[in-house]
Amino acid sequence: MNHTQAKERVAKLKDLINDYRYHYHVLNESIMSEEAADSLKHELSKLEEQYPDLVTPDSPTQRVAGAVLPGFAQVEHSKRMLSLSDVFSEGEIEAWVKRIDKAAPGRKLEFFTDIKMDGLACALIYRDGLLDRGVTRGDGFVGEDVTANVRTIESVPLSLRKTNKYAEFLQGKTEIRGEIVMYKKDFRRLNLKRKKANQPLFANPRNTAAGTIRQLDPSLVASRPLHFRAYDLLREKESEVSTYSFAYDVLSELGFSTNQAATVLNSVKEIMNFANEWETRRLGLEFNTDGLVVKVNDRELYESLGVAGKAPRGAIAFKYAAEQATTVVKDIFVSIGRTGTATPVAMLEPVVIAGSTVQMATLHNESEVHRKDIRIGDSVIVHKAGDIIPEVVEPLPSLRTGKEKIFKMPINCPDCGSKLIKLKVEDVAWRCPNTSCPSRSWKQIQHFASKEALDIEGLGEKNVILLLESGLIKDAADIYTLKPENLIRLDRFAEISANKLVKAIKEKTHPSLPRFLYGLGIRHIGSQTAIDLSNYFKNIEVIMNASVDELASIEGIGEIVAEAVVEYFSEPKHQKLLSKFKGLGVWPVEDEHVSSKLEGNNFVITGTLEGMSREDAADKVRKLGGRFQSSVAQDTDYLVIGSKPGGNKISKAKTFGTKTLNEEEFLALLDS
Ligand code: IVH
Repeated sequence: MNHTQAKERVAKLKDLINDYRYHYHVLNESIMSEEAADSLKHELSKLEEQYPDLVTPDSPTQRVAGAVLPGFAQVEHSKRMLSLSDVFSEGEIEAWVKRIDKAAPGRKLEFFTDIKMDGLACALIYRDGLLDRGVTRGDGFVGEDVTANVRTIESVPLSLRKTNKYAEFLQGKTEIRGEIVMYKKDFRRLNLKRKKANQPLFANPRNTAAGTIRQLDPSLVASRPLHFRAYDLLREKESEVSTYSFAYDVLSELGFSTNQAATVLNSVKEIMNFANEWETRRLGLEFNTDGLVVKVNDRELYESLGVAGKAPRGAIAFKYAAEQATTVVKDIFVSIGRTGTATPVAMLEPVVIAGSTVQMATLHNESEVHRKDIRIGDSVIVHKAGDIIPEVVEPLPSLRTGKEKIFKMPINCPDCGSKLIKLKVEDVAWRCPNTSCPSRSWKQIQHFASKEALDIEGLGEKNVILLLESGLIKDAADIYTLKPENLIRLDRFAEISANKLVKAIKEKTHPSLPRFLYGLGIRHIGSQTAIDLSNYFKNIEVIMNASVDELASIEGIGEIVAEAVVEYFSEPKHQKLLSKFKGLGVWPVEDEHVSSKLEGNNFVITGTLEGMSREDAADKVRKLGGRFQSSVAQDTDYLVIGSKPGGNKISKAKTFGTKTLNEEEFLALLDS
């Protein structure tokens, strides 16, 4: 980017970030996620680094802390309320520990670790055990007196609990610091009510909590459920509180709610284990959190390490990877899936999200592109979470230069040239009707061999395309006819790799029913639906002859899925393929029940398991007589929680009292 282009971009970025800030801080609403705004700020600071003459005093990069709002009395904090420096990796935690080691050589370090709550900081000042004042963080030095409002929060004690154990804290001044949060469920309920009343919706629980606490009418505050969780205790004589673990003990004793998860850890490894464990578990907490707070437990050492900028050297915030970032759409192309669906895909300027580089994101379908008005050349917000396919959330039209191009859906399939069609007028998806379209063939065969289906090692995209192009195979059944001597003639194979592939294929001659069914690539049949169908029918011939009504009567199977199954098996091309499989001796096996120790037990998995795929887990459960379900219901016995769980399975399990297992406990149950 040259200087003129950079100047123009910098001006636009500043306007957009300021607009975001105004909405966020003044109106308590959000025009984009905080992560997306951070991403824009990052781009701005990079440009300013490159062209320092473009830095102006009003740039969002030059901001130091927010000003105190008028309307509340201003109160000076007895001790500055600091922020924390963010770290994102084990390496950064190690570096932090090394710095402390250097400052305090030979000291045995303990780390007090807690969940970082996503709310607003508040200081509660008690005098002789009675609540005197509640003060917001403000700029860290001076906050706002919100006593009347915090008094309405039930978890804020109006007087400290009388305790003999720590009676000294009931005398004189005791300051409790903590976070005011709104629970996720209360936030949802509140927004639902607002929606019904046609009122504008709140952006997120934190904004709502922050906006509420700054209301001048305490009765309105009382009507909104807020919670206070303590994380610090200050006394004039600092030696009265020697460690953070001691402080938490006193806090509970004095009547404050603290996080149960908070604990003392002894090494970076222990911190990482804790971080990994909570990456999943945090989603089941009542409030939002995006990381952990790790502090040196010994308060004297903590204090002696001092402050760097606005953050103490003795503490850090470990942040889980952000799931949104901004980037530019370089182009939009159409990809033909294995069932023929034509999906517009955005080619992006590569950007790192949640630890991996994202270069492409789905735009779902033509109407979605136009509804969101995503143009080629647009700056956009991209979202990626866990294993889901990255998607373009929305464009940032104010960053347009005028050179952006509107996307037009092609008339013909980009791969085979057939005219794209819509099956029904009301369909949003265009499809390539050619069942022999090259894109469909290789994607279908690759799908058949994929991990979730037959799990044949060595049949990735490149090899499948090579086998198709060489004429050795035409469909998935043909792979079973491959011989090492034919493969060796191809570029990508030598004797060992050819033998290995043929062996890997032969091993999968009798796949389990769900894997085979899923591998056929029937529209709308994901791996879980394949399991549901297998649970019910137990036999592929029965599924092949089932009617729409019969299929749709199964729990979890809707009419669209039922129709797709019937449509698939009634197509002559597919019937031929199945006969070919059968002729080659490739047929799914009926479930062999090794034992019936899990008989009558229903299982659901959420998130990713480390040691086995979801399909492996399903196979194992079925072999032991158990059932694998797609969602948590009243009759679910166990919810197995892997990493990055999604949806509402954990909260549903809580509602139904379903037992939850981590991967280790699940394995132990299978092995017992
Ligand atoms: S300890 C130096 N513990 O995070 C301040 N803070 O970025 C360290 N926060 O303003 C305080 N949960 O409002 C601590 N368990 C927790 C926390 C926590 C949320 C907030 C706090 C602070 C901000 C620092």
